[in-house]
Amino acid sequence: MTSVAAECSTDPATGSALDAGVRVHADDRRHVWHPFTQMQEHLALPALAIASGQGGWLTDTEGRVYLDGNASVWTNVHGHHDPDLDAALLDQLGRVAHSTMLGLTHAPGAELAAELTRLAPPGLDRVFFSDNGAGAVEVALKMSFQYWQLTGRPEKSGVIGLAGGYHGDTFGAMSVGDSGFFHARFRPWCFPATHFPAPLCREWDGRVRQADATASLDALRVLLAARADRTACLILEPSVQGAAGMRLQPPGFVREVAALCRAHGVHLILDEVFVAFGRLGPLLVCAEEAVTPDFLCLAKGLTGGYLPLAATLAREEIFSAFLGSYASGRAFYHGHTFTGNPLAAAVALANLRKLRSLDAAGTLRGRLACFGRLLDQTFSSHPRVRELRQRGFAAALDLAPSRDSAEGFPAGRRTGLQVCLRARDHGLLLRPLGDSLLLVPPLCLDESELGELVHRTALALDDVLPS
Ligand SMILES: Cc1ncc(COP(=O)(O)O)c(C=O)c1O
Repeated sequence: MTSVAAECSTDPATGSALDAGVRVHADDRRHVWHPFTQMQEHLALPALAIASGQGGWLTDTEGRVYLDGNASVWTNVHGHHDPDLDAALLDQLGRVAHSTMLGLTHAPGAELAAELTRLAPPGLDRVFFSDNGAGAVEVALKMSFQYWQLTGRPEKSGVIGLAGGYHGDTFGAMSVGDSGFFHARFRPWCFPATHFPAPLCREWDGRVRQADATASLDALRVLLAARADRTACLILEPSVQGAAGMRLQPPGFVREVAALCRAHGVHLILDEVFVAFGRLGPLLVCAEEAVTPDFLCLAKGLTGGYLPLAATLAREEIFSAFLGSYASGRAFYHGHTFTGNPLAAAVALANLRKLRSLDAAGTLRGRLACFGRLLDQTFSSHPRVRELRQRGFAAALDLAPSRDSAEGFPAGRRTGLQVCLRARDHGLLLRPLGDSLLLVPPLCLDESELGELVHRTALALDDVLPS
């Protein structure tokens, strides 16, 4: 790995030598506006710039090494600088970096579409590429709306979502999500959507082991009975609602929702942007649950966390409704310049090949079980952890003054952030969600690295909140 810190240049203002690490910080502080970030707070904090990565580890411009505890925002699968993914990328780079999917095609894109349909439950035979999770959701929503127009039911235009749902930050995705604080400001520009309650998490021994969906499904039955004839689609994140803080659904919940949607003639959109590609164990949650949605949204781990690529899979019957002469105006007029980029598609193919063999060897299942055990041992009776929720390689620790406190810490204390900043001193990168710590490691971590992840999290927690 080349060290960025080793390179030097000159500060144009003073003429003095400026090493590359310092230059990154100077340029960043002067010019970058970071996502989901209060920049005043960010500019007051010590900056950290990543220079390189290897496996589950990232190295900063000062040469300090960190475990990537949030998989570079929930994307990384086989680790950084993976030899197989690197080779696939370089091989494609030797052919062509980008060629459009508007009217043309290319081998990695076509092959990836075929591979995704083989991975998906039977019936999802068409793949529409885009380049981020919110985009994949927009595509599914627009396809559903247009389908009902094309089939003579334009009044079916409403959307049902799950309370607490997060589907991204574009206007359609914000409209159907329910992220309160994140999106409240933009409500006046969003279209209306109705939300039904999420399953309730049940706690035993400090760890949420199950969720109860009775009230949630009852509410959905009532909603569908009243509104199905005006509803185009229902969207949900199956199994785990990630950005809501790893909210768990009980096994069978998605199947029940799918059956209700089918019975009421409402499209089901499954947003597996976060949960797919081994994050919870199976390569696709819907395949594991034997549910064929009408639309399936994929992104994040699709390229193993290497490049921006997303896909919306749709049922053949939906695709067929869009066929007709040019003059019929039935085409789906939606697209992005870099849709189905060949570099990203080539890496996605290598990622899926590698994931299939990990899955077949049972390697993932072993690691997931180990992660669950370690979390249990360390946090299920930790005095500062009010609730632990975990499924697969996705966990949330809700911090509180004590295990039975009704209230959390005052928001202004930024306790979650303080713990994450302290974790850096222990060589660990984490991102908080308020005062919840989210642990979402790359799938490549072995048992000893998972032990380090949990141990370093506990060290940071005990430093900031000693008992
Ligand atoms: C379930 C889900 N859907 C959609 C998105 C949005 O994806 P992107 O950030 O790539 O637009 C996210 C992002 O975290 C997500 O968790």
